[in-house]
Amino acid sequence: MLTDVTAFAPATVANVGIGFDILGHTVDAVGDRVRLRRIDEPVVRIRSITGIAGELPIEAMSNTAGRAVQALHAALRLDYGFEIDIDKGIPLASGMGGSAASAVAAVVAANALLEEPVPRLQLLKFAMEGEIVASGSAHIDNIAPCLIGGLVLTVGIDHPRVKQIPVPPSLRCVLVHPHMFLGTREARAVLKTDVTRSDFVWQSANLAGFISGCYSNDLDMIRDSFNDVIIEPQRHSLIPGFKDVQRGAMSAGALGCSISGAGPTIFAWAEIQHAEAVRGAMVAAFTLHGLQSDCWVSSLEAYGARVVKA
Ligand code: HSE
Repeated sequence: MLTDVTAFAPATVANVGIGFDILGHTVDAVGDRVRLRRIDEPVVRIRSITGIAGELPIEAMSNTAGRAVQALHAALRLDYGFEIDIDKGIPLASGMGGSAASAVAAVVAANALLEEPVPRLQLLKFAMEGEIVASGSAHIDNIAPCLIGGLVLTVGIDHPRVKQIPVPPSLRCVLVHPHMFLGTREARAVLKTDVTRSDFVWQSANLAGFISGCYSNDLDMIRDSFNDVIIEPQRHSLIPGFKDVQRGAMSAGALGCSISGAGPTIFAWAEIQHAEAVRGAMVAAFTLHGLQSDCWVSSLEAYGARVVKA
C-alpha cells in the first residue's frame, strides 16, 4: 500500500482559438508537481507551496489542489487524510492552465493512494471543484486535456463526454508567455453574453473544419479554419502587442495563432520545420512591446497527468 506519491500534470492551452470552453490541449514541456502523503487524521491540509508560487492560498478550502482533494475525500468518505506539497512549474494567471494542473496532479496522486482507485474520468469532477475556486466558473477545457492528454473536446459539464482528437504528427505547439498577469475572471468579464448569427455561423464552421482537419490530417483545412471570430476580438486588447505577435507567427509559417486560454500567453501551431522561426518571431514581437517572455515548443502527443514518484 503506497503512502507517498508525486504526480505531474502538464500545462494546457484552453480554447485552442476556436473552441471556447470546450477544446484544449496539453503542453507537456511544462507543468506542476503535487506530492500527497497519507495521514491518519481524516483531514486534507497543504504543507508547502514551492516553485512559481506567488501568493497562492495555503488553506486547502481556498486552494485549487486542496479543494479538489477535499472533494474526492468527501465523496469517497475516507477515514484517513492527505497532506499536500505543491510545486508550481506553471506561472500564475498566465492562461496556461496552472490551476487545473495543480488540481489534476493532486487528484491523480490521491487516486494512487486509494485502496480502490476510481476510474480516471471520475477524477474530472473532483478537479473541477478545484478549478471553480480559482476561476469562479465551471469550465473543463483545461482539466480534461490535462487529465487525459493531447487535444481534447469536452461536451457537457455535469456528465461530460470527453473525446481525444488525433493531431497530425508533424505539428508542434509554440507557447509564449509574456511576463505579465491576467486573471481569468477579468478576461471573462470583458466578454459579451450574446453573439451575432453571422459570428455563430463562422465559429461553428471553423470549429467543425478544425476538428475534421485534425482527423483527416488536412493541414490546409486546419489553417483555413484556425480563426476565432468571437472571443479573440474581444480579448486581444488585454495583451500588449497581441496583433504583432500573431502577425509575426503567421509570417513565420504558423498555421494559426491565438490566445492561450484566458491569456496573456499566446500559442501557435506550426509544422515542425517552422516551429523555431515562429517562436523567434513571437518572442521578438513581445520584446518590441517591452515584454520579456518565456517560451516552449511542444509536441501535441497525448501525455496526460501521471504519477512520477511512488
Ligand atoms: N475557456 C476559459 C476561458 C479558459 O477562456 O475563459 C480559462 O483558463
